[in-house]
Amino acid sequence: MSEKVKLTYKDKEYEFPLLEGAEEEKGIDIKTLRAQTGLVTYDPGYKNTGSCKSEITFLDGEEGILRYRGYSIEDLCEKASFLEVAYLLIFGNLPTAKELALLNIEIRKESLVDEDLKSILKSFPKSAHPMGVLSSLTSGLIAFNPSSVDIASESDLREAIIMLLAKFPILSSWTHRKVKGLPLNYANTSLSYEDNIAHMLFKLPHQDYEASPVVVSALNKLLILHADHEQNCSTSTVRIVGSSHAGLFASVSAGISALWGPLHGGANQAVIEMLEAIKADGGDTKKYMQKAKDKNDPFRLMGFGHRVYKNFDPRARIIKKAADEVLNELGINDPVLDIAKGLEKEALSDPYFIDRKLYPNVDFYSGIIYRALGIPTEMFTVMFALGRLPGWIAQWSEMRKNNEPIGRPRQIYTGENHRTI
Ligand code: CMC
Repeated sequence: MSEKVKLTYKDKEYEFPLLEGAEEEKGIDIKTLRAQTGLVTYDPGYKNTGSCKSEITFLDGEEGILRYRGYSIEDLCEKASFLEVAYLLIFGNLPTAKELALLNIEIRKESLVDEDLKSILKSFPKSAHPMGVLSSLTSGLIAFNPSSVDIASESDLREAIIMLLAKFPILSSWTHRKVKGLPLNYANTSLSYEDNIAHMLFKLPHQDYEASPVVVSALNKLLILHADHEQNCSTSTVRIVGSSHAGLFASVSAGISALWGPLHGGANQAVIEMLEAIKADGGDTKKYMQKAKDKNDPFRLMGFGHRVYKNFDPRARIIKKAADEVLNELGINDPVLDIAKGLEKEALSDPYFIDRKLYPNVDFYSGIIYRALGIPTEMFTVMFALGRLPGWIAQWSEMRKNNEPIGRPRQIYTGENHRTI
């Protein structure tokens, strides 16, 4: 018989099943709590709430473990391409050579977007933030690819997934080309998925372009490390929007908006802006450490802390090494990196940060690599979105296939009691 958890309220005892997942994960199944007791739970930020059962990503914040479908990110970064990891997340296993070849063929066939989407892009000012533009363009895809996904049909679902995998990098690169005032590129079908991302971002009309292996390898790692992170803010958004049976493209468009915020994906941009500001202010890292610790100052050390990693962020370890390699290889001496290293050193020995278990997260170093690769700061979060796309797709598909109910939390009302006019 499965274990139960007891709750006593007003001298009455209630029992709730204990759910056991893989990797010894446990949780209390409170599906009947309100019906049995009239109570709801209160958990701002869902710090203790499991919103679903999921087979996709395992994360142990205490041990600093992150695995996609059972494979460690360290292994995947070493041995797999981003497209293979996308396949793994979405379809459950690493692709065979034949499956990968078929996926590439399908993606190439869909590597076009309706030319009319360009007029949506054109209507934005150059100063528009690329994340807002990307969310709108992704939403715009719905109008040009109107068939809604029939979740019961494997071929229907696969078609929507392929469309998004093929068209999203094109739209992402267009947000960059727009900022730079460059002609809009399409994919070169003779290149790999990852090479094409670099090609569409950087190829100039009057020059040949061959991405350096260092650039492609760093991009590949960054994309893999961002590919999924279980029920984070943007993924939860994608799942909850999809739970109303809104389509895949609409759900992903909402996810992009959620990712944009500086406490989530927008942190990579915020980190570089913070480091630049410290540099412009004379490079006094101690002053900014003080500000971060001052409760009356809203300043936070961007790129530090994480909701679930309370020892170290395993992604940050890989990224830090990759950042060193890229800067060495490209011969870049970035003073902002010295400030970053100084801040990290101070924070790691400061009781405020130690007591609160605040360590550098993935975004502390990712911006430094993007900068070295020549990607403008406001594009950093778009790069995160490019990486996170397979995770959003995998999580959306799982949610729909499991026929999850519409997401609709309750609340504890604290306003006025009934009053009359
Ligand atoms: N600088 C200074 N103090 C901090 C920071 C920080 N970056 N992060 C957390 N704290 C303090 C916070 O003030 C609180 O202190 P106290 O207990 O005295 O009130 C304590 O640490 C716990 O913070 P919290 O806000 O309750 O923790 P959370 O789990 O709700 O927030 C976080 C996690 C990532 C939003 C937060 O650490 C943060 O704002 N970090 C900076 C933004 C950032 O780098 N975000 C990227 C996350 S990684 C990319 C991704 O996966 O989205």
